[in-house]
Amino acid sequence: MFSLDLGDGLRLTLAEERHAGAITELMVRNQARLALWQPWAAYRPTVESTRSYIRGGLDRFAEGREHYLIIEHAGVPVGACGMRRDPQTLIADVGYWLDAAAEGKGLVTRAVTALTEAAFGTYGMRRVEIRTMVANARARAVAERCGYEFEGVMRRAMRFADRNEDVALYAAVERHP
Ligand SMILES: CC(C)(COP(=O)(O)OP(=O)(O)OC[C@H]1O[C@@H](n2cnc3c(N)ncnc32)[C@H](O)[C@@H]1OP(=O)(O)O)[C@@H](O)C(=O)NCCC(=O)NCCS
Repeated sequence: MFSLDLGDGLRLTLAEERHAGAITELMVRNQARLALWQPWAAYRPTVESTRSYIRGGLDRFAEGREHYLIIEHAGVPVGACGMRRDPQTLIADVGYWLDAAAEGKGLVTRAVTALTEAAFGTYGMRRVEIRTMVANARARAVAERCGYEFEGVMRRAMRFADRNEDVALYAAVERHP
């Protein structure tokens, strides 16, 4: 199955149903901090709900629309990242999260750099976006370290159960016309 070896024990592996248990455990353990920044994390996942999401991701992978990838470090799942691609507009977007214990090592910066290169190189995208809550300093720092440009604030563009939050829009675009 699809897998990218980024060196030094860092690997991105297409999420398969066999990952559902480990990813659910990571999401449950990190739920409180993930839910601060990502609306989907408000809901406590079960192995079955994760398996169902992974199955959907595999369908979208087969359609050429998505990579939902497990971030593995030293052979252990430590988070996830994803790239969704629109084959009509040639615009992609990238998202990511890590286990708290895996923060501060540059893993996501390396993962997003590799995904961005694949988006432009392998998949011919013209634009790749990262959208984060304005207050999400760590997520914004990843976008900036990976060379994305801040394009502005999308006001109230992220829906949580009880509120809408402002979103910082970052994008990288192909270097030639
Ligand atoms: C957003 C998130 C993935 C960022 O994690 P992170 O560990 O800060 O990001 P990276 O993995 O790129 O690591 C960067 C850190 O490692 C350090 N680092 C060490 N080696 C590095 C290297 N080779 N390259 C880059 N940074 C390196 C950097 O200095 C930085 O540390 P600092 O923040 O103390 O300055 C994480 O905070 C998270 O999961 N948050 C909750 C979910 C979330 O908000 N997701 C994004 C929603 S859009």
